Amino acid sequence: MQVLILTDAARLSNHAAGQIAAQLRAQPGSVLGLATGATMAPVYARLIAAHRAGLSFARMTSFNLDEYVGLGPHDPGSYHRQMRDMLFAQCDADPARCHLPRGDAPDPEAEANRYEAAIAAAGGVDLQVLGLGQNGHIGFNEPPADPGSRSRVVTLAATTRAANRRHFPAAQPVPRRAITMGIATILSARHCLLLATGAAKAQAVAAMLQGPVTPDCPASALRRHPRVTVLLDPPAASALRPPGQSAAPPAA
Ligand code: F6R
Repeated sequence: MQVLILTDAARLSNHAAGQIAAQLRAQPGSVLGLATGATMAPVYARLIAAHRAGLSFARMTSFNLDEYVGLGPHDPGSYHRQMRDMLFAQCDADPARCHLPRGDAPDPEAEANRYEAAIAAAGGVDLQVLGLGQNGHIGFNEPPADPGSRSRVVTLAATTRAANRRHFPAAQPVPRRAITMGIATILSARHCLLLATGAAKAQAVAAMLQGPVTPDCPASALRRHPRVTVLLDPPAASALRPPGQSAAPPAA
């Protein structure tokens, strides 16, 4: 696992966008795993700038991590809508190859199974981008998360629903359930790139990198993956112990 602490969130976004762009330049037909959320927005803004300067998304296939159950692709709170607004509609990505689970599918469990099969049929994910929840979630794998889990329907934690309230109009309740790639789905990607910014993520970052590998911190499962890059800004890295320092003070 490679952990990089960048000097600030802007440089972190530049670095992440640079890695995604480098992947697409090296392999224009890459399968990317994409995330939504506030951490990703500035990264997509930089990718759009790179597109205007010549980067093509035309041959990319993408699979997003998750979608809210009950929301159709045009719902303002849906991740379909976020992705269209933040990236897809502003570049030359082929909409037919940009995939998210359908939150409005009549049978959400069957939709999750279909989604998992579609990822496998595309040959798996080359580069999976991840944000980090304040409770250590990746995708919407809330703690405790089964490390063997595949795409499925999950119930969102109250803290996650509260954190995401800002993305919904006041009159619209935040959905209680989502379809998410599972932990094992995420770990099947050939390279994982996790981004965390801001002090609100500091405890989750410390648990992910320095706590036990446990379902109680779903992101800690990434330590079992052979190729993970973690990008942090200084506030997100602020609860990390210096190398060699033990987790708890020695007993008196
Ligand atoms: C989003 C996702 C989530 C977010 C995480 C961080 O598709 O799967 O795991 O990455 O909740 O969200 P932000 O970046 O809004 O803090």
